Amino acid sequence: MTSVNIGLIGCGFIGRFHSIAIRHLIKQGLVDARYVAVCDLDEGRARSFGERTGAQLVTTKAEELIDSPEVDVVYVCVPTAGHKELVMRAAGREKHIFCEKPLATELADVEEIVAAADAASVKAGVGLILRHSPILTVLKLLTEDATIGRLMTAVFRDDQFFPIQGHYASEWRKDRWLSGSGTLLEHSIHDVDVLRWFGGDVATVRGSIDNFARHDGVEDLATAHMEFTSGGRAELVSIWHNVLRRPSSRRLELFFENALFHIDNDFMGPIGYQKHDEEPIVLSEEDVTARYLELIGLPGDPFGGALRYSLEDYFFLSKVALGEDPFPDFGLALEAHRVVDAIYRSAHAAGETISVG
Ligand SMILES: NC(=O)c1ccc[n+]([C@@H]2O[C@H](COP(=O)([O-])OP(=O)(O)OC[C@H]3O[C@@H](n4cnc5c(N)ncnc54)[C@H](O)[C@@H]3O)[C@@H](O)[C@H]2O)c1
Repeated sequence: MTSVNIGLIGCGFIGRFHSIAIRHLIKQGLVDARYVAVCDLDEGRARSFGERTGAQLVTTKAEELIDSPEVDVVYVCVPTAGHKELVMRAAGREKHIFCEKPLATELADVEEIVAAADAASVKAGVGLILRHSPILTVLKLLTEDATIGRLMTAVFRDDQFFPIQGHYASEWRKDRWLSGSGTLLEHSIHDVDVLRWFGGDVATVRGSIDNFARHDGVEDLATAHMEFTSGGRAELVSIWHNVLRRPSSRRLELFFENALFHIDNDFMGPIGYQKHDEEPIVLSEEDVTARYLELIGLPGDPFGGALRYSLEDYFFLSKVALGEDPFPDFGLALEAHRVVDAIYRSAHAAGETISVG
């Protein structure tokens, strides 16, 4: 195991999330790491992160951070259109990388990024945080019951207020040149990844996108019908509305031949299910969390109440320190990007069925 030296670029909303986690994990001795550098184009933000983290290098120039011999791992937390340049440079300098999702605004750029990280043989993790969701991990385990038959269909609704206000404190998501597009890529790439987790490879999709708020090229409603190679189906509805006190909310229902499961939370919360001719069951949030911690081999919650913040960075940094491949990685993100791209292509072709190649 080696100690890793972390540099973080992008001291905004998600940068703060990771920064809190990294500091907490180091303080609790849960990862062997040093927080050595922070960067933001906005000097005040960089300085404020510098003060909190004690990082020695505080800069407005990302290349200075990436090129610094002190930095082993580069966190890329800037708006999506900025990911490619920073990831390519980090790969070119053989730095390990954690890049937020989506990896890029276009599929071709995602492919280039993934190829560059592969060619450089660096560890490359991605912010598909729901892969470390306690509720989804336990739900997945519950669905691995051979008696419940095959997955017939998943119904997934994801909605939140248009994220250009409130705790986001930024407006770039309404600018297609920075975000690439709207709710499907920016938010529901998580959902597509979760649906692949539960349903497996996607064979074909049909989709639609609409633009009620009229921000050019930034859809606020996306629907998708997905057909898995296994024969199961999924329906996804992704919405950005103006119900300003309603942040990111997800409801997932899974129907198997002999069982159904439903959740109304995407990270912590209860799981409802019913099988065969049995009564409905609700597994409480406490039970779900305890079962999850046992599953990952950390019973008793060593994260000291900061579970939600800590998991993603805990797993990524632990793997990098061990010289092992992180999960979720760039390859997994590429698969989700391929499905998202196919849904957009279908939407632009009046809902034509598109094969996911
Ligand atoms: N995993 C998740 O659930 C999740 C949640 C939120 C955001 N994200 C992703 O994280 C990324 C950032 O989103 P955000 O909400 O934190 O944005 P933000 O606007 O809050 O923060 C971005 C920061 O990056 C800085 N920045 C921009 N370009 C830069 C550059 N070239 N060099 C240095 N600093 C630069 C900005 O000044 C800003 O402070 C996006 O790709 C977004 O999709 C992921």
